[in-house]
Amino acid sequence: MKNGGASLSRRALLGAGAALGGLALLGPTRTGQARIPTPFVPTRSLTLRAGEMELKLLGPGKPASRILAYDGTPFRTLRLPRGSRLEATFENGLDEGSTLHFHGIRMPNEYDGVPTLTQPLVQPGGRFVHLLPLDDPGTFFFHPHCDETGQAGKGLAGVLIVEDPRDPAFDAEHVLCLKDWRLADDGSFLPLTEPDGASKAGTFGATRTVNGAASVELAAPAGGDVRLRILNVDATRIMDIGHEGGEAWLIAVDGHALKPVRLDDLPDGIWRMGPAQRIDLHLRMPRDGGSVMVGDYRSSDIYPFATITAQGRSARPRKGPLALPPPDLPRPELKKAERFSFTLQQATDAAVKDIGLPPDDPLAKALLDSLCVGSTTYWGINRESWPTGERRNVPPPLARMETGRSYRIEIKNETRFPHPVHLHGHAFEVLTSSLGRLPRHFADTVLVQPGEAVEVAFVAAPGDWVFHCHILEHMETGMMGYFRVV
Ligand code: C2O
Ligand code: CU
Repeated sequence: MKNGGASLSRRALLGAGAALGGLALLGPTRTGQARIPTPFVPTRSLTLRAGEMELKLLGPGKPASRILAYDGTPFRTLRLPRGSRLEATFENGLDEGSTLHFHGIRMPNEYDGVPTLTQPLVQPGGRFVHLLPLDDPGTFFFHPHCDETGQAGKGLAGVLIVEDPRDPAFDAEHVLCLKDWRLADDGSFLPLTEPDGASKAGTFGATRTVNGAASVELAAPAGGDVRLRILNVDATRIMDIGHEGGEAWLIAVDGHALKPVRLDDLPDGIWRMGPAQRIDLHLRMPRDGGSVMVGDYRSSDIYPFATITAQGRSARPRKGPLALPPPDLPRPELKKAERFSFTLQQATDAAVKDIGLPPDDPLAKALLDSLCVGSTTYWGINRESWPTGERRNVPPPLARMETGRSYRIEIKNETRFPHPVHLHGHAFEVLTSSLGRLPRHFADTVLVQPGEAVEVAFVAAPGDWVFHCHILEHMETGMMGYFRVV
């Protein structure tokens, strides 16, 4: 089987969707504000075209897989200086609808790429122009925001690095994209979602890769300083990033600098990273001939994805960690902030029932496709599942907020599984974890463990911003809502 069932049904429905005409009009409720800084003069214009390509993921001598990528490059990487004004045209070369979402970028809501909420779905052959101010330096990424389990699951994701000229100079820098693939021996994709996964920890891939290879071997000067930008672009897997050899400091989370923390000083000597989360690590290399291994220690079967060997000698041996400049982000006013609490829960199959149609009815399917969700609901936030409530429409917001006000949000996890929770268009400050395991830092995604409550705070920006679990199957089976900021 070449495809998971999901994408076949979506394709089959493209025809049906057109006949349903009116549905497309039912989606967006716009807050009607022009939020683009005027004038927006692009400093860089480019096109990102989603399409298929072949990649040997199973190893040399094994059959290749037909993956999805932007511009025919796996994990297409853009590097732009801080302060850039990026005009990015998304071109849909897939045979199903898609959109482009720039994860972690603070931007005008209308370019956020969430179909029905901020823009219509981009049909095959269609385009959408995003205007993005890149004011925050850091390690970001971009991915589709429809049929994510299918599209991102097959590799559709890219890296956006916003460089800060004020950063300290490292001897070397490497970008490491971690992703697993669900492949059969002939290189074809196994179903990307299964009910047992979607309703629990997710459907895992067994072919583990970094930058599309089983592992990478790198070199750096002895005693030198290496910056690793590590991205978990997997749909499902939570990873415990740790190292052996040399010294390592965590210097940024989701692109945003924090006071360097020695990895060995964190609980268990690892940083736990869910899907969509990124870290920047500063490695201080050992002496000549020594090496550093960076791996995922989550299971007893450690996955050593990078080995860096010390060769020659650094021209500028230094002491202590190299800190990045502190982030220049709106600081929430904690005393005046309004509070909300959201509980992550298991849910029933409410969405399909709410539509009032049998789940196998083509109209029900077309409607679920237009909302870019699956046909089953397993998860909810505060007893609401996406989509729910009013029929054939985007549900009401989880919260209403005011532009420029500060909010404190408690996220409680009542389920038996961890959830990486992401808020679009903002960088929030992670204040506390009830398990006491997190340093205070800025992020756009926070992993909430079973039984844990995490508190975050942010200054609200105008628009409808989705708030969802980034285990893609959880998001597509209900664990998503949005905040309306006016
Ligand atoms: Cu990485 Cu809703 O996004
Ligand atoms: Cu989840």
